[in-house]
Amino acid sequence: MPPTLGVGLIGYAFMGAAHSQAWRTAPHFFDLPMRPRLTVLAGRDAVRVADAAERLGWSSVETDWRRVLERDDVDLVDVCTPGDTHAEIAIAALEAGKHVLCEKPLANTVAQAEAMAEAAARAAARGVRSMVGFTYRRVPAIGLARELVAQGRLGEIRHVRAQYLQDWIADPAAPMSWRLQKERAGSGALGDIGAHIVDLTQHITGQRLTGVSALLETFVKERPLPASAGSLSGVAGEGMGTVTVDDAAVFLGRFDGGALASFEATRFALGRKNAIRIEVNGSRGSLAFDFEDMNVLHFYDGDEPAATAGFRRIVVTEPDHPYVGAWWPAGHGLGYEHGFTHQVVDLVTAIAKGEDPTPSFADGLQVQRVLDAVERSAAARSVWTEI
Ligand SMILES: NC(=O)c1ccc[n+]([C@@H]2O[C@H](COP(=O)([O-])OP(=O)(O)OC[C@H]3O[C@@H](n4cnc5c(N)ncnc54)[C@H](O)[C@@H]3O)[C@@H](O)[C@H]2O)c1
Repeated sequence: MPPTLGVGLIGYAFMGAAHSQAWRTAPHFFDLPMRPRLTVLAGRDAVRVADAAERLGWSSVETDWRRVLERDDVDLVDVCTPGDTHAEIAIAALEAGKHVLCEKPLANTVAQAEAMAEAAARAAARGVRSMVGFTYRRVPAIGLARELVAQGRLGEIRHVRAQYLQDWIADPAAPMSWRLQKERAGSGALGDIGAHIVDLTQHITGQRLTGVSALLETFVKERPLPASAGSLSGVAGEGMGTVTVDDAAVFLGRFDGGALASFEATRFALGRKNAIRIEVNGSRGSLAFDFEDMNVLHFYDGDEPAATAGFRRIVVTEPDHPYVGAWWPAGHGLGYEHGFTHQVVDLVTAIAKGEDPTPSFADGLQVQRVLDAVERSAAARSVWTEI
């Protein structure tokens, strides 16, 4: 029997449920070198956390995350709470000798992210590992895109075009939530979804952004206070609250390999639900991806004769594609939750091998620096801002 890895998970709503599913499922489909045990779920409300633990498969509960860090049966802390809590929980967990998986964006400010990256480096020297949850890296089509770039199939990268489009607050009557408060979320569409496309484009191209010129906008500045709040939904109640984050972010950027880039992150793209759209054009080929059709990668091979060349629609469900061999026969597609399972697989494998998993807290800090540069540029009439 492989050794066990006791997991303590903090926060049991959207990401808490997605991560629970991943911890439960990973050992049933993948041959893991350690056996995750769903040891303890932490939340602040005793009744609700007990309910969630029963539903999601956790064997015990705590009502204060600090108690999780004191437990000998916990080897890894999984942080699924809003950004204002990440630094405090993750640093304390690393100092207590627990491996940490922390949701994105790593923190709400560069200073917090720096402290987290420093704590992660100190912990790594003691064999304690950390990873930030840029989950979309683990979509098989994204893995294939990265492989094609690394194999040189796109040649020199010229253009990177990335959008993350949602519409869940396009209605001005949609109520306030923590995602619309700067002190809780750090920023709005920028940090919540823009962070993903910054990470994804850097991951696919193997290059890093060096500077940006940005616009931020808050279209709806006041919203009803919530009577009840879900993760990306809620019911409006009495009174109004002030939105203190961006509703949309648009920015241009330059990659260190010379590519020009454009980014758009918005929650006001009516009709677009979770459209992560990435197109990369190189000197030898192009690729295009849309998460709303997540099992497909489009690839244009510029080496083919012009008469028959064209974008090829690759259904990324072959056993040779990243992660896919562990799942279903070809053509029986994967879904949103599989990325989280793959994240667990990569994390557990790295821990067992004594290696540092990626994306690291240092990678999360670098994304935070991009977000910060976008905010500084937007505040200074879109002036070019180095990262
Ligand atoms: N990787 C992804 O694709 C992805 C997707 C969505 C959200 N996220 C990130 O995950 C994190 C959580 O987002 P979410 O959508 O799950 O939010 P959510 O509102 O659905 O859940 C947050 C949970 O944290 C709990 N919580 C808040 N403060 C707490 C505290 N001090 N102690 C214990 N529990 C506390 C809440 O009660 C709730 O259960 C955020 O950082 C978000 O950016 C990542």
